[in-house]
Amino acid sequence: MSKILVTGGAGFIASNLVDRLIAEGHEVVIIDNLTTGFKENINKKARFYEIDIRDKKIDEIFAKEKPDYVDHHAAQMDVRKSIENPEYDADVNILGSINILENCRKHKVKKIIYISTGGAIYGEPEYFPVNEKHPINPVCHYGVSKHTVEHYLFLYNYLYNLNFTVLRYPNVFGPRQNPHGEAGVNAIFIKKMLSGEIPVIYGDGEQLRDYVYVSDVVDANILALKKGDKKFCNLGWGIGISVNQIYSTLQKIIKFSEKPEYAPARLGEINKIFIDGSLAAKELGWYPKVSFEEGLSKTTEWFRNFRS
Ligand SMILES: NC(=O)c1ccc[n+]([C@@H]2O[C@H](COP(=O)([O-])OP(=O)(O)OC[C@H]3O[C@@H](n4cnc5c(N)ncnc54)[C@H](O)[C@@H]3O)[C@@H](O)[C@H]2O)c1
Repeated sequence: MSKILVTGGAGFIASNLVDRLIAEGHEVVIIDNLTTGFKENINKKARFYEIDIRDKKIDEIFAKEKPDYVDHHAAQMDVRKSIENPEYDADVNILGSINILENCRKHKVKKIIYISTGGAIYGEPEYFPVNEKHPINPVCHYGVSKHTVEHYLFLYNYLYNLNFTVLRYPNVFGPRQNPHGEAGVNAIFIKKMLSGEIPVIYGDGEQLRDYVYVSDVVDANILALKKGDKKFCNLGWGIGISVNQIYSTLQKIIKFSEKPEYAPARLGEINKIFIDGSLAAKELGWYPKVSFEEGLSKTTEWFRNFRS
């Protein structure tokens, strides 16, 4: 069993990862400044440090805890916020990540797993499904900042032999996704429908995304502890689902009969993307397992019990 330092472990995805790591017998240390994360997401068996990834004092945490692995999820992850405040986005996502990398190097971490985004680094795709050979032309600041760190990972491996795996997530959904944030259409729709409010669809609702349930991306992180060295892997079904389809599937699950409201499309959001996960299948042995409908039902159930 290993000691794993998880950044962003109070957030939606990484808190699900922490629960799994602990269930599998690992020791977990969390670094999170609670900007978008929540204390109630934090597993009681993890050691929690409330600190910013940009803070130089994380050196002391690395020195004390001596983690074997680092799983780096902490980020400014809101596309629109990145367009409104590009400096903050770059500060957290790039400089914060360099601070983490410097500590990995200094404290001889065996491997870092870095969470990138398949949805925001490729821009408006030239072909579908998008694989790792697709040109990288992000059309929002968030996509640029997340991708920039991938270059640093290559560099830290080249200069210092720091091992890494990059996981480029699609649109992840499931329990603990924030229904009050700007991202996470599923959580927002579920929350609204459960409270009898009509969700708003921006644009015509025909935008396509690749939606993967959170336990499936957690699987990829677990696999990456042992495999996928120095690889940059997309995670995805390779299938696009429209916002209108999400709306109608949820209408059935929740038995919600109201029609959606439509509003103008928003800046920085691409029209269609779905992502080829076959490299992750080859390198990590990763396959998504939870179908979209099953994932939506599980997520709805969770919101009914915990957040409605
Ligand atoms: N949700 C998705 O669909 C999706 C898609 C692609 C990539 N990702 C990536 O997955 C990761 C997790 O995203 P999420 O959806 O769980 O978001 P989230 O906002 O729930 O989690 C991010 C966590 O990082 C913490 N954090 C933010 N800034 C920090 C800082 N400066 N110092 C310390 N902690 C900080 C937050 O408090 C939060 O707990 C991010 O790196 C994001 O870019 C998410």
